[in-house]
Amino acid sequence: MASTSLLFFFISFQLLSSISQATVPASDTFTYVNEGEFGEYVVEYDAYYRALPAFNSPFQLCFYNTTPDSFTLALRMGTIRSESIMQFVWEANRGNPVRENATLTLGADGNLVLADADGRIAWQTDTAGKGVVGFQILPNGNMVLHNRKGNFIWQSFDSPTDTLLVGAYLRAGGPSRLVSRSSEASNVDGAYSLVLEPKGLTLYYKSPNSVRPMVYWTSTEWFTIDKGSLTNLTLTSLSYDDEGFIYYLRFIYFMTNPSSHSSQNMALSRYNNTLSYLRLGVDGNLRFLTYNPNAQGAAWEVIYTFFNRRSMEGECQLPERCGKFGLCEDSQCVACPMPNGLSGWSQGCESKKVTSCKSGEFGYYKIDGVDHFMIKYTRGEGPTKQSDCEAKCSKDCKCMGYFYHTDRSRCWIAYDLKTLTRVGNSTNLAFIKTPKK
Ligand SMILES: *[C@@H]1O[C@H](CO)[C@@H](O)[C@H](O)[C@H]1NC(C)=O
Ligand SMILES: *[C@@H]1O[C@H](CO)[C@@H](O)[C@H](O)[C@H]1NC(C)=O
Ligand SMILES: *[C@@H]1O[C@H](CO)[C@@H](O)[C@H](O)[C@H]1NC(C)=O
Ligand SMILES: *[C@@H]1O[C@H](CO)[C@@H](O)[C@H](O)[C@H]1NC(C)=O
Repeated sequence: MASTSLLFFFISFQLLSSISQATVPASDTFTYVNEGEFGEYVVEYDAYYRALPAFNSPFQLCFYNTTPDSFTLALRMGTIRSESIMQFVWEANRGNPVRENATLTLGADGNLVLADADGRIAWQTDTAGKGVVGFQILPNGNMVLHNRKGNFIWQSFDSPTDTLLVGAYLRAGGPSRLVSRSSEASNVDGAYSLVLEPKGLTLYYKSPNSVRPMVYWTSTEWFTIDKGSLTNLTLTSLSYDDEGFIYYLRFIYFMTNPSSHSSQNMALSRYNNTLSYLRLGVDGNLRFLTYNPNAQGAAWEVIYTFFNRRSMEGECQLPERCGKFGLCEDSQCVACPMPNGLSGWSQGCESKKVTSCKSGEFGYYKIDGVDHFMIKYTRGEGPTKQSDCEAKCSKDCKCMGYFYHTDRSRCWIAYDLKTLTRVGNSTNLAFIKTPKK
């Protein structure tokens, strides 16, 4: 009898403590409604925004929109005092906007829920009953739901969009990628992604026409991973004070099989760059931006642009540097390659549409000494004969042209033309599909 009541007591105690553990104190629950006046300061994407009470300088939660009644819940970075364009460094619901009167609620159950005005759940952390007792924006911009012990049950660093703040990471087991935004105005997934892979970071371009994503860069020179594979990589800030202060932005990365770690400096500044981020831009470029909270006026500085005319990778390596079609040299679009030769480049440069893929109704024109952006980091097929390479493109209605290196007899099929690069080597040939009439 005694042991039964003891057991009962024990069970009720367990039940009670687990219930109380899973409860957010009433004073820490909240519901924020997307309503009222818009903020008056300038933010990224020329957006309208409403700042929410959740704030830890220079980070603040906001609803913003670029098209009427189509809101994204986002974390904004920057203060009003610096009078610089405030940037959005994390987003909850890209591609799934909410409307006026949508709500962000942290309930007593510990779930953080973004619901539209009609109650439809647009986004949530799925943390109900997991012991969450509070929500916090940390000084580094990581938003967390924590339990009584201070452990993070959910954190925004586990779901980056196109931005990696200092302290944030990519992991082989996820989150393993950043995905660009489609355009300044349109907040849906764009064509570019930066992906953590076993041997390093890879940049992909994928358009509606591409059969599969195309590689336009891999980080083979950044990392020394001879054996084993990359498990994670964290962006960090580090200061040296040998000859005046220098601050580095650095990737710290871990490998497995065998396990080891190493680091790579990416960019440096003369002031404290703890408040920085890496952004995969709408143009597919990678930029490190630093926020100097003490600056008067321009607090944001781009301290490193990866594809840059003065760096190892010029802008010609960017798939859409020359828009739909163009010949690029020294980071500039220098010509529009047409069947009758090269003409001046403009945004209107486009290859002639091939509407029929019946043999005899299209042909190819040749451009000497050019490469496609995918060639530098992909091996292509081969050795193969040029005629076989051409046959492969001809059979494939989606193929827009092929690229062929005569010295190594290698073949690349192109589903997007976009930016071609002048390489000054007559062994590198482009064949662009064109209608016969
Ligand atoms: C939002 O809710 C308020 C209060 O219920 C209502 O007066 C207002 O019309 C709503 N706004 C929109 C755009 O539906
Ligand atoms: C990266 O991996 C190492 C080794 O497994 C681990 O100690 C570290 O916590 C990981 N870091 C992140 C951000 O996942
Ligand atoms: C740099 O700034 C961060 C955040 O403002 C601060 O925590 C850190 O101590 C600063 N580092 C140095 C070396 O001053
Ligand atoms: C051109 O191709 C030849 C043959 O493969 C190669 O030896 C040479 O380095 C290339 N030149 C340039 C400028 O790429």
